[in-house]
Amino acid sequence: MSQTNPTAKTILITGSTDGIGKLTAIALAKADHHVYVHGRSADKLASVIEEIKSTTNNKHVDGFVADLSDLSAVKHLAEAVKDKLQSLDVLINNAGVFKTANPITKDGLDIRFVVNYFAPIVLTEGVLPLLKTASVASGSARIINLSSAAQAPVSRFALVGDEKLNDQSAYAQSKLALTMWSMDLAKQLKDNNTNNNINVIAVNPGSLLNTGMVAEAYGQHWSSADKGANVLTQLATSDKFAGETGKYFDNDLGSRSGTADEMLGDFGNPHPDATHQGKTAELLRQTQTMLAKLGLV
Ligand SMILES: NC(=O)c1ccc[n+]([C@@H]2O[C@H](COP(=O)([O-])OP(=O)(O)OC[C@H]3O[C@@H](n4cnc5c(N)ncnc54)[C@H](OP(=O)(O)O)[C@@H]3O)[C@@H](O)[C@H]2O)c1
Repeated sequence: MSQTNPTAKTILITGSTDGIGKLTAIALAKADHHVYVHGRSADKLASVIEEIKSTTNNKHVDGFVADLSDLSAVKHLAEAVKDKLQSLDVLINNAGVFKTANPITKDGLDIRFVVNYFAPIVLTEGVLPLLKTASVASGSARIINLSSAAQAPVSRFALVGDEKLNDQSAYAQSKLALTMWSMDLAKQLKDNNTNNNINVIAVNPGSLLNTGMVAEAYGQHWSSADKGANVLTQLATSDKFAGETGKYFDNDLGSRSGTADEMLGDFGNPHPDATHQGKTAELLRQTQTMLAKLGLV
């Protein structure tokens, strides 16, 4: 039976039924945090929750089901999180997709833009009151968004489903869009919340980590998935990152193998568009128009 940790954080990790999200959930549960796992399959989620509880002896592990390729389900997910939790210290927008048999969603959008970009926005905006509550209670809250070394300028036509992209381009564009939004969100939260301290970091967890996504996309890997889980665990909970916001953490700046410390990268530079105010404003305007069209704002 786990002890109650007085410094335990409440942490939600999307896409934590597999890959680096699952390993991060295990590491955070081992450290006695209250971990909320998320997945799209109820059965897989239930079995991962049981596995984490039994391997970590932490009973404060629970979860949520939602298919993030359906943005109305993402909205419901945010409501379910708000119904269940009083506050949220850390949100890790980790779920991601690179390749899939059917890349166009029922809304006519590319699934990479939906899962990797629109869904984190809808979820984060929905649970922001919980992050604010946590930041008032404890002094800070954190949002960690999973970017990638693969970042490419966003086509405004592809964003709204009017241009078809190959897997690599769709993935890279969705990751730059997420990074642009992350930089802007950090700024908005700083400007608007004088009493709050909600930090936002975009992170490339390391390239070609050994996960299902990478096996399917590239058929080879450079590093263990632990490299990614380690950086997410650190960004979520380490005091070292307490004051950091509006930055891009590049885990490719760490070594490909070795100790956890050796593999940890550093803050670096995202694609130049991520800090371009005009391009970001235009992207966010198109994003809001699309979300409004879908009845989500
Ligand atoms: N691995 C790398 O080298 C690398 C490099 C840069 C960035 N990243 C980013 O890191 C994150 C995690 O990647 P990973 O390599 O750990 O991938 P992964 O092993 O494929 O895991 C992805 C997770 O996202 C979930 N997911 C996928 N589509 C979903 C949907 N429609 N609704 C809900 N959940 C969904 C998956 O659920 P299921 O369990 O049901 O499949 C799984 O839990 C991604 O955002 C990825 O882009 C990874």
